[in-house]
Amino acid sequence: MANTIAVVGMQFGDEGKGKIIDYLAETADVVARFNGGNNAGHTIVVNNKEFISHLVPSGILHKGKINIIGNGLVVDPKVLTEEIKELKDKNVKVTPDNLIISENAHIILEKYIAEDKEKNRHLGTTSRGVGPAYAAKTSRSGIRVMDFTSQDNKFSKELKPFVKNTTLIINELIDKNKKVLFEGAQGALLDIDHGTYPYVTSSNVIVGGICTGLGIGPKKISRALGVGKAYVTRVGAGPFPTEVKEDIGKHLQGKGKEFGATTGRPRQVGWFDALMGKYAVMINGLDALILTKLDILSGLKKIKICVGYKHKDKIIKNFTTNLDVLENCEPIYEDLPGWNEDISNIKGFQKLPENAKKYIKRIEQLLGIPVCIVSLGPDREQTIIMKEEFLF
Ligand code: GDP
Ligand code: IMO
Ligand code: MG
Repeated sequence: MANTIAVVGMQFGDEGKGKIIDYLAETADVVARFNGGNNAGHTIVVNNKEFISHLVPSGILHKGKINIIGNGLVVDPKVLTEEIKELKDKNVKVTPDNLIISENAHIILEKYIAEDKEKNRHLGTTSRGVGPAYAAKTSRSGIRVMDFTSQDNKFSKELKPFVKNTTLIINELIDKNKKVLFEGAQGALLDIDHGTYPYVTSSNVIVGGICTGLGIGPKKISRALGVGKAYVTRVGAGPFPTEVKEDIGKHLQGKGKEFGATTGRPRQVGWFDALMGKYAVMINGLDALILTKLDILSGLKKIKICVGYKHKDKIIKNFTTNLDVLENCEPIYEDLPGWNEDISNIKGFQKLPENAKKYIKRIEQLLGIPVCIVSLGPDREQTIIMKEEFLF
């Protein structure tokens, strides 16, 4: 059993992290975000009602949990104020007892949003000012949350009561053996250092980002779980070797409702890429995998998994961030038989169609780590626990 669990995206974001964090938060004490900003959109569905969190951690819908916005984030004061209000309007309790904002997080100024829209269009950013805010932080001209709330600004009065030294708080909570979830935003291939640069976001989204983004030592992360969709999606610009555009692509995009939770943009879709998966396992040090949206694959005759890239007569077996390879390679696929049954309400791994089980087993083999949770729908109930020993 673990005391602290990291939950990070293994692909290009939108893997279903919000759903999983909300599910695991039931047995946690603390949920902490460590990177990104309101470029993230994490969907939680409870009793058919949908809530999309952009900045507030996805533990907020559970009573009595502490939600932390770490120093590694960039915070748009207007968006956060509105998100808190939206939650309160839905009768969700949000007070300084259950939401804490790091005084060291950085502020997204309005001019950064304008700059993002103007200069970063070719990257397909979310236009939320995230990149320019991190650039200002790194060049030491940024404004920290504590600087912002010490002045009489719009939204500073609203946010001030939530602002604290989260570094001290989270270390004390971990030392008291509280159960902590680290909620990743984006996904491994969008990482500023390890992703498909320059088509990436501006923060370290991988497990390594937890140490810097919250101020804890690496030994305080006891488990790392990666969330991966049973296929792959990408929104914005950048290479996507296994993208599928024709009929099957339309099936995945339509049935999977693949439209961005933040911008509403359609997401490109493609087959599961085992090279990408193995890379995410390596750079995050993942212990186990959470496979989401398996229900969307129902009804396909054949399901493909990418097991290599062919580039100029060379067979590539390990993921690379070389854009020439990613843009011009031909994926090498393994074909697996599909299944027809609707699996979205199946309870228990054994009840899944044989071919769905085979698909899961093959992904485990290729990635070298076990699957601990399979998700079959957006709701909390549509979740199969396969290996409890990886959870709290
Ligand atoms: P996140 O950014 O990783 O939290 O993911 P998003 O919320 O942006 O996108 C995931 C979408 O898939 C949301 O609409 C979820 O409600 C939905 N979702 C999550 N898990 C499943 C699943 O297992 N099956 C289906 N059909 N939908 C899911
Ligand atoms: P969640 O947490 C999917 C993508 C953008 C763009 C690139 C850079 O919901 O998984 P940015 O605004 O960060 O400078 O944009 O990164 N992107 C995401 N894609 N899910 C996200 O977050 C994303 N956050 C950023 O589409 O391609
Ligand atoms: Mg999302």
